[in-house]
Amino acid sequence: MAPPNYSILPVQETDLDFLANFVHTAKLRLSINRLLFQDWPNDPIQTQMYTAAVRSGFEDPTTQCFKAVDNHSNEIVGYFVLARKRPSQKPPQYEMSESSSQDTPEGLNPLLFAEVMAASAKIEREFKDTDHFDLIYICVKPSLQGHGIGFKLVQIGFEQAKAENIPFTMCAEAPAYGFYTKLGFSETSHADIDLGKYTPAYSGFGVFRLTGMIWYP
Ligand SMILES: CC(C)(COP(=O)(O)OP(=O)(O)OC[C@H]1O[C@@H](n2cnc3c(N)ncnc32)[C@H](O)[C@@H]1OP(=O)(O)O)[C@@H](O)C(=O)NCCC(=O)NCCS
Repeated sequence: MAPPNYSILPVQETDLDFLANFVHTAKLRLSINRLLFQDWPNDPIQTQMYTAAVRSGFEDPTTQCFKAVDNHSNEIVGYFVLARKRPSQKPPQYEMSESSSQDTPEGLNPLLFAEVMAASAKIEREFKDTDHFDLIYICVKPSLQGHGIGFKLVQIGFEQAKAENIPFTMCAEAPAYGFYTKLGFSETSHADIDLGKYTPAYSGFGVFRLTGMIWYP
């Protein structure tokens, strides 16, 4: 398939349902989510959570949300959310961190949720005293991955980090680790979650890693 001719634009309120479904679909491939959501696939709970997450990005003044749109079909083919984080700033409400409520959202496995919270908090701690940009979400339509759309979206973060002369960070899920190293990010820390604890022995689940990554202008 020929790579799409696309434009990068700010998202609009009317994109909410499409983007929630876009993130939901991308996250279905993530092994840990298979265990994090009880009664898998539990679409009502997943839809509710991703809709709330996308909406929070729209509403948070420290966050910018962009979409890659196919110029021919007008279809959204990529989504990118970037946040500016200053030391002492309260984390956005959509983020899991030590300072937010520890209550397990409805439909999630409480023990695994607590592990994810602790892992994210460990990684976030490395950046908390630094003024920086943070990549909150990136996803590209699966059939168009590998055509440079993700690279183009991350350039938005590189440009803003260069303009402000501050670092650009993220908490990388394991399947995307190679994408970030390719783009020049380096590892700051990582946290491992043993998914085998949540499944019968030898059923194919192993260690899931979240990695803190940083890029300096
Ligand atoms: C990760 C993701 C955003 C990359 O977007 P993409 O449009 O496919 O990436 P690009 O085509 O711009 O790739 C840029 C470079 O990174 C490489 N790359 C892309 N994904 C990679 C991966 N998962 N591992 C290793 N390298 C990768 C590409 O081969 C390309 O290298 P090249 O310039 O030598 O050809 C996309 O795969 C995706 O949406 N994944 C699902 C959601 C996700 O994992 N998001 C990140 C959560 S932390």
